[in-house]
Amino acid sequence: MDQLVSVQDFEEAALKNLTKNAADYYKSGATSEQSLAENKTAFSRLRIRPKCLVDVSKFDTSTTVLGTKVRSPFGISPTAMQRMAHYDGEVATARAAGVYGTVFILSTIATSSIEEVAEAAPDTIKWFQLYIYIDRNVTRNLVERAERSGFKAIVLTVDTPFFGLRRADVRNKFSLPPHLKLANFDGMLSNKICNAKSGSGLNEYVKNLFDDKLTWDDVKWLKSITRLPVVVKGILRGDDAKKAVDCGVSAIIVSNHGARQLDGVPATIEALPEIVEATKGSDVEVYMDGGITQGTDVFKAISLGAKMVFCGRAALWGLANGGQQGVEKVLGIIKTEFEFAMALSGCSNLSQVTPDMVVHQSRYCKL
Ligand code: LAC
Repeated sequence: MDQLVSVQDFEEAALKNLTKNAADYYKSGATSEQSLAENKTAFSRLRIRPKCLVDVSKFDTSTTVLGTKVRSPFGISPTAMQRMAHYDGEVATARAAGVYGTVFILSTIATSSIEEVAEAAPDTIKWFQLYIYIDRNVTRNLVERAERSGFKAIVLTVDTPFFGLRRADVRNKFSLPPHLKLANFDGMLSNKICNAKSGSGLNEYVKNLFDDKLTWDDVKWLKSITRLPVVVKGILRGDDAKKAVDCGVSAIIVSNHGARQLDGVPATIEALPEIVEATKGSDVEVYMDGGITQGTDVFKAISLGAKMVFCGRAALWGLANGGQQGVEKVLGIIKTEFEFAMALSGCSNLSQVTPDMVVHQSRYCKL
């Protein structure tokens, strides 16, 4: 593992280790994967403008999210079925987040249950990502269990009436390996992804079970059944951000779902400023995920107004290379790179990572 010194190194090694079914599932974006590429390349179109001769002998990367202190402004986004990457799955990822004093978001479609993760990582700040099932009793049960198990927020995914078209999953007839199950459920709901009749098993699962009639009223309904703060994930427009604010959410994750839903949408770093602007004057926190592979990406997102960023695939690539230790290594790489970005640009705490620290490359295009 010593030779793996970047998230990209971890990705390349992971893609060699994983089965084709799992590798394709984790890495795919929707249809032609233009937005998948843009999530990363949009970061490279931004330039950092460092300030010189600033005392950076002491610096602090901590912040608060939903009132809880985190040591660094990056956490782990929900990704599904992590035991395909390593037999410890979500448990390992949650523990690694705890070691780094940051947030772990558990997916509804996890291969470790809410209770297992709570028991294995009691000190990690845990949030629960929710899909609303047509059967509202199933949904309520998930929310209640997350509350009982000490999770600190419900992260409602709002971009998924059903899943996007991921061509590799269709080709592979994606299915969850038979030794694994969707651990938050019993019986049929736990193993339905196993036997796709045609196309992706995941898409079949979702079509039958997820509620595709959701509206903003359902965000209000969710708020009415939980005492936890509600975070909405998947917002890409300012007007939707305003609707989220009106519904009383506590935070928004600007996200295009790892570019897995609709191709052609903006990179999340492109969408971020519009959402930051739209929520100004409210106390709703704005976070983002999508395309973060290095510390400078975190720096750019914070500069453009994100309070926190989340990494999904980066953690998976760590998980596939040694479980908890691999995820820790990935978080350590991002942390070191982020600290370098801060110190070498003359920022000793996050309040100094202001919008003027980053500009679009077009500013220098005349050359
Ligand atoms: C996906 C879901 C599970 O993108 O979030 O596959």
